[in-house]
Amino acid sequence: MLEAKLSELEARARRELQAASTPEQLERVRVEILGRKGELAEISKGLGKLPPEERARVGKLLNSVKQTLEQILEQRKAAFEAAATQARLQAEWVDFTLPAPPPPLGHLHPISRIQAEIEDVFTSLGFTVLDGPEVETEYNNFDALNIPADHPARDMQDTFWLTDGNLLRTHTSPVQVRGMLKHGAPLRMIAPGRVFRNEEVDASHEHTFYQLEGMMIDREVSVAHLVYFMKTMLSAVFHREVTVRLRPGYFPFVEPGFELEVQCLLCGGAGCPVCKYGGWVEQLGCGLVHPNVLRMSGIDPDEWNGFAFGLGLTRLVMMRYGIDDIRYLQSGDLRFLNQF
Ligand code: PHE
Repeated sequence: MLEAKLSELEARARRELQAASTPEQLERVRVEILGRKGELAEISKGLGKLPPEERARVGKLLNSVKQTLEQILEQRKAAFEAAATQARLQAEWVDFTLPAPPPPLGHLHPISRIQAEIEDVFTSLGFTVLDGPEVETEYNNFDALNIPADHPARDMQDTFWLTDGNLLRTHTSPVQVRGMLKHGAPLRMIAPGRVFRNEEVDASHEHTFYQLEGMMIDREVSVAHLVYFMKTMLSAVFHREVTVRLRPGYFPFVEPGFELEVQCLLCGGAGCPVCKYGGWVEQLGCGLVHPNVLRMSGIDPDEWNGFAFGLGLTRLVMMRYGIDDIRYLQSGDLRFLNQF
């Protein structure tokens, strides 16, 4: 009776040990059959009721069944461990002979992108791209541009003065001066670059931003030339024909001076929040170069004249991409930059 139970249990235990497909299932089989309160222990309780000769024989048998099952259990455990080790090695395996994956590539900053587009337009029209230093002399930034000594722009409010009397350029216009002195007339130049103003920072003001300067000096340059070049540049940047208009604007280094406005690209001039319901957006300062400015840089205003413009590059980029806070542009925040 006990023996029959035992052999039935052994057969079933063998099947279940083999069938267990996870270490957890295996453990469950162990507890149920080989555990302290398991089926085998249950059977061994019946030993005491057997006559002594029977007891010894069945007891032996029971022990050998137990040993056999424990052996199978250990083998199965070892098999699971080996499989786990194999899986881990597989996962950690590295082929050192493979070529390295390429480092993630960055891309141009939106300001650099638009700057390059504008440079392409102007170089194809015979303009040279000039560079000037960010630390400038007071003479190049103000005097040579016909900005009088008492002009408010020289105020501590607007200019970062250095202790040696130099300053951080407040606009790219001093590169006009450098261009005229170096190359003389005729001249076609643009000068993109960083400029600085001692300004309270908010969504539309930064102490550091980008401008793009342009100057063309030749014989009999007119406002019509100026408008043509501005329209060509802005149409290229916005990828469509733009409508522009001039309003009078005062800059000491041009006469006449203008603010050039673009018909709002969002509403087509009907009025919307971007153009503050005016239909037009101010885009750049420009005008015909003041004779004093030519003369101070060694160009005869009786023989030559020209136009100049200064474009707020940062502002243009904000309009082009619909960026509503200037502070994003220099934040270095990749969540912002990765959108371009
Ligand atoms: N320098 C002027 C500014 O910073 C812009 C400008 C440049 C205006 C050239 C006229 C001609 O606002």
